[in-house]
Amino acid sequence: MNIIVTGGAGFIGSNFVFHMLKAHPDYRIICLDKLTYAGNLSTLEPVMDNPNFRFVKADICDKEAVDKLFEEEKPDIVVNFAAESHVDRSIENPQVFLETNILGTSVLMDASRKYGVKRYHQVSTDEVYGDLPLDRPDLFFTEQTPIHTSSPYSSSKAGADLLVLAYYRTYGLPVTISRCSNNYGPYHFPEKLIPLMIIRALHDESLPVYGDGLNVRDWLYVEDHCKAIDLIIHEGKVGEVYNVGGHNEMANIDIVKLILKELGKSEDLITYVTDRKGHDRRYAIDPTKIHNELGWLPETKFADGIVKTIKWYLDNEAWWQPIISGEYQNYYEKMYGDK
Ligand code: NAD
Ligand code: TYD
Repeated sequence: MNIIVTGGAGFIGSNFVFHMLKAHPDYRIICLDKLTYAGNLSTLEPVMDNPNFRFVKADICDKEAVDKLFEEEKPDIVVNFAAESHVDRSIENPQVFLETNILGTSVLMDASRKYGVKRYHQVSTDEVYGDLPLDRPDLFFTEQTPIHTSSPYSSSKAGADLLVLAYYRTYGLPVTISRCSNNYGPYHFPEKLIPLMIIRALHDESLPVYGDGLNVRDWLYVEDHCKAIDLIIHEGKVGEVYNVGGHNEMANIDIVKLILKELGKSEDLITYVTDRKGHDRRYAIDPTKIHNELGWLPETKFADGIVKTIKWYLDNEAWWQPIISGEYQNYYEKMYGDK
């Protein structure tokens, strides 16, 4: 089985590459990644010499490069993680989100049609459903919840989802979509809430909490997300959407306090800052469908996962320090420039 994994040098994609090489030692995994600011090739260093792994630096919007790779590798499955993923950046500069998240998806699906890929899987997000009110804890996102986006990021992901379903209906491309809640775990880029707060707290820097800090996210350990995608690409029904989430809702401020407690730091570091524009209040996934149809359940409890994650950042300063200093962006040129 040949699988092209796009965005495999990012947070979830790299965890997925590791998961797949371990869970399916007979599969060949080809990672296609542009290495934007969010892609870090040093993350993939442990598998670079694995004969079942290949890394290709390319843009999913580059039709020629994508076609060439599909021609060479004849993939059975494509899993598309590649995206611009940070809401705050999308508010500053929406354009690149539309290019990568929507146009890039269409380039990958055109190649998937042309080369007869057996499954195209789109990694999407619960943010396509918009948000839920804080005073209605009985409400959850199901696969039937209407698309109702808030940010340029979530709008671009929703646009891609609609296009994926259109390729299924119009061309019969065998697609699946997963819509997952917020992930956390190793290799999470330190612009996102949890790694940002861990690293700033370690440096005794102020912790910028947006608005009143009461916004709720539904957190899932990244390995559980990877296992869900592995199940969907093998056993999921073509043309279907699967919500993935752990019933683990937490207010931002409670996460920040928990991180401070684990690190033995003072809550005086917390600084309330101006709220994000259009800030979604609450996300909460109903994962009944994937549980009933595919038997998936999250395995890592938040209490354990967050401790594991904090420990990972304490033990892996060598991974995040070059990111903080910006040095990681020279890594590809330094290691692979003449290869
Ligand atoms: P990330 O920002 O950490 O990684 C994105 C990766 O995509 C990087 O390696 C980057 O170099 C690559 N990339 C970006 N533009 C590219 C392009 N044009 N061509 C090729 N590669 C490109 O993102 P992440 O948090 O790992 O998210 C991965 C996917 O999962 C995204 O599609 C995101 O929307 C989705 N998702 C994320 C979360 C979350 O909590 N992080 C939750 C649900 C869904
Ligand atoms: P983030 O990790 O950016 O994920 P998303 O916006 O995709 O859910 O943010 C998670 C929550 O944390 C969100 O409600 C915004 C909030 N937040 C802060 O309060 N301060 C910060 O510095 C960041 C990055 C996020």
